[in-house]
Amino acid sequence: MKTLIAANWKMHGDLSWADKPAEFRGIYPKDKSGVECLICPPSFLLPALVKQGEENEILVGAQNCHAETSGAFTGEISAPMIAGLGATHVIVGHSERRSLFGETDDDVSAKAEAALNANIIPIICIGESEAERRAEKELDVATMQLANSIPDCAKGANFVVAYEPVWAIGTGLTPTLADIRVMHNHIRGLLTDRFGQKHGANIQILYGGSVKPGNAEEILAIDNVNGALIGGASLDMESFAAIAMAA
Ligand code: PGA
Repeated sequence: MKTLIAANWKMHGDLSWADKPAEFRGIYPKDKSGVECLICPPSFLLPALVKQGEENEILVGAQNCHAETSGAFTGEISAPMIAGLGATHVIVGHSERRSLFGETDDDVSAKAEAALNANIIPIICIGESEAERRAEKELDVATMQLANSIPDCAKGANFVVAYEPVWAIGTGLTPTLADIRVMHNHIRGLLTDRFGQKHGANIQILYGGSVKPGNAEEILAIDNVNGALIGGASLDMESFAAIAMAA
């Protein structure tokens, strides 16, 4: 299985950011075998990034999609539109979508299904809140979110899971390495239970939440951590490249 180093630029950037893949490759010329790099920019940058991504061997994905293929949904973008641009992935159910835009597990599942139908890979995000962690409910939360956010049509290794504890996103806080190991083992178990050993063992499980050059190597060395979803530290190509090198 490849290690996926994924940048989530959130609502940052302007047209000049189309040059970032080349800047990235200026710092980190070639992926080690077994590492793939992905940038998920705001939608307006997708066409330019796909072009630059092809030239610089960087995958490009979207940050969200609508569950329908088209229709009267002002401001939305559909999975076939994203696929048509040449993007390969789409993040669904990021905690900011869940908490700020009210997305439920059912919404996330519908979006992931739309992505699979459009032949792009959904990165399905889950993760507990601070209160749930304090109440030691994080494994139960992950179980429920995974059960309800992965659509029935998902068959095997055609999607990615990202574990992002809400309280670790953008805060500089991270779980202990032991806590990350426990959670990722738990998620792997849920995936192999549902999809069988053959498929379940090959689904990439990313860790996200305050990943930076200083902690990437130790986090990525944990069993069943198959990559990272990086927000803040992915905006600067020096630090994004340093994380890719740590992989
Ligand atoms: P962060 O964000 O790296 O800034 O914590 C991660 C994410 O939201 O995907």
